[in-house]
Amino acid sequence: MTDLVVRRLLIDLETPFDRHWCGGDAFRSALFNALSMSFPVGEQFFIDSVRNGFKALPPEQQEKFKAEVHGFVGQEATHRRIHALFNAHLEKQGLVNDWAPRAQKRLKLLDGVDPRHWLAITAANEHFTAIFAEWMLENHDWLDGSEARLKTMWLWHSAEESEHKSTAFDLYQGLGGTHAWRITWFRRVTLIFLGDTLRQTINNLQRDGTLWKWSTWKSAANYLFGKRGLVRQSYRPWREYLRRDFHPSQQESELSSRWLADNANAYKPVGV
Ligand SMILES: [Fe+2]
Ligand SMILES: [Fe+2]
Repeated sequence: MTDLVVRRLLIDLETPFDRHWCGGDAFRSALFNALSMSFPVGEQFFIDSVRNGFKALPPEQQEKFKAEVHGFVGQEATHRRIHALFNAHLEKQGLVNDWAPRAQKRLKLLDGVDPRHWLAITAANEHFTAIFAEWMLENHDWLDGSEARLKTMWLWHSAEESEHKSTAFDLYQGLGGTHAWRITWFRRVTLIFLGDTLRQTINNLQRDGTLWKWSTWKSAANYLFGKRGLVRQSYRPWREYLRRDFHPSQQESELSSRWLADNANAYKPVGV
């Protein structure tokens, strides 16, 4: 079981920020903005999945998960709130979030479906988030040149994603979810997640007027496929999820706890 602390982030999200807030880089700003746009809807779905999965557990198992579920819900609810504030600035910058309504429409199809399907989808998404978080903490210098408050926001979110990456997975297993369905949803989520990320990033670049700039494509190639590139470094951990004996804790590192320890002045634990 993971001890999950809910933290209130002590950063200013009222002051507007630059359009190319990520170190002056149009591509990276557009990609992170796209991800942020998906969080309020996506994270609400994760919260609902974990809550409903918890309720479906037999009472003796509920006791075991109670504290962790509470921590998970608190962390994701805080992420939603913070990213909604961030996203409000994006809207003022003229960006349009097409991802959220599309996702909402798609998730409607899951109404009344067995909670294990919800959890398999959540666990798959959380695997993506955990890989991205780990990569971000490792390569935090990509955020250099960004305002300190924004860098803190992304690394705090990454640290907590890495902390709670096992919750949905463990609940899925606890409810007797099968390996076959876990993999089926993982493959579907991969296609949907990558497709949505790409569409929204292009949309953001188009509205920013930077889609057809050479510097944008150069940055994308380097950031995604360069030596330390996101796609290049994520393929292996992505594939591990397919193993029958996979568990998220196998991809544990110290990066999350180290960031949280080194940046304790950036947040305040809630209810401790
Ligand atoms: Fe989150
Ligand atoms: Fe999460």
